[in-house]
Amino acid sequence: MIFVTGAHGQLGSSLKKFIKSGALFFNSSELDITNIDNIKRAVDQHHPSHIINCAAYTNVEKAESETDIAFLVNELGVSNLSSVCASNKIPLIHISTDYVFDGNKNTPYIETDKPNPRNAYGKSKLAGETALLDSSTSGIIIRTSWLYSTSESNFVSKVLGMLKNDNILNIVYDQIGSPTFSDDLAELIITILAKYKFDGVEIFHYSNEGVASWYDFACSIANLSGFKNTINPVTSDKFPSKVDRPPFTLLAKDKIKSLLGIRIDHWQKSLSRCLDEKI
Ligand SMILES: NC(=O)c1ccc[n+]([C@@H]2O[C@H](COP(=O)([O-])OP(=O)(O)OC[C@H]3O[C@@H](n4cnc5c(N)ncnc54)[C@H](OP(=O)(O)O)[C@@H]3O)[C@@H](O)[C@H]2O)c1
Repeated sequence: MIFVTGAHGQLGSSLKKFIKSGALFFNSSELDITNIDNIKRAVDQHHPSHIINCAAYTNVEKAESETDIAFLVNELGVSNLSSVCASNKIPLIHISTDYVFDGNKNTPYIETDKPNPRNAYGKSKLAGETALLDSSTSGIIIRTSWLYSTSESNFVSKVLGMLKNDNILNIVYDQIGSPTFSDDLAELIITILAKYKFDGVEIFHYSNEGVASWYDFACSIANLSGFKNTINPVTSDKFPSKVDRPPFTLLAKDKIKSLLGIRIDHWQKSLSRCLDEKI
């Protein structure tokens, strides 16, 4: 029996598509990871073999003003899961983010690069990584970037909405990274469950292949969906924000690819699959 937390989120929903039996999916009201007694009770009742933590506070903008809540979920929640997993010898699969990096590099980030988050969300996610690394459980941390899915609350849906309503779109081109289709990340996690021997805590980077700016990503969404709107590349300062975002967070995937012997689809191929499914 596998536990999946944050089941109603993008990644939780993708996992639900692929795992048809042998798993229990908990949404935030069924299993609040900030409450350790809830976690202990569920584990004592069902004795899971693994826990996949898809639960997180993910609103990067709001995290600047709701920093306490972001840390409650992204640090304390992970600390709670790590502690219960350690006591029960359950491997924990946890998801983190490219936003733990400051984005000052100009070559892909490897797992041993030093994190230096620029914003509250990134700091809270790094605190969660530290909680898991400092625990005595075995597990893995998968850092991913620019996650999107067939659901409604992500960049792809937002751009599709703008393409339907606005003639001209202004999209930033000075933030570089790689999109990740949540179905691909879900399939990676299933491969990990099948092949990986858990021992201590390891960090892996995973996104789709290729490199993009948000402008490139928006142009591909438009092209693949047949929209002809004008899309202007603009700099980030055109959208004043309290959030300091890293300019470059491309993740190097060599470690996970060689460990599992997998190939990863280019982000445009995965985007096309996602759009086919949405239509
Ligand atoms: N989205 C991205 O662009 C992105 C990029 C890099 C890394 N990541 C990481 O990837 C992972 C999955 O992200 P996602 O996009 O699938 O997130 P998501 O769609 O925002 O889903 C997160 C889920 O966590 C649940 N949750 C929040 N607080 C909780 C709590 N205290 N206890 C239990 N569940 C709680 C939320 O439930 P409610 O809706 O009920 O609050 C939501 O369903 C996260 O760790 C995220 O940090 C995401």
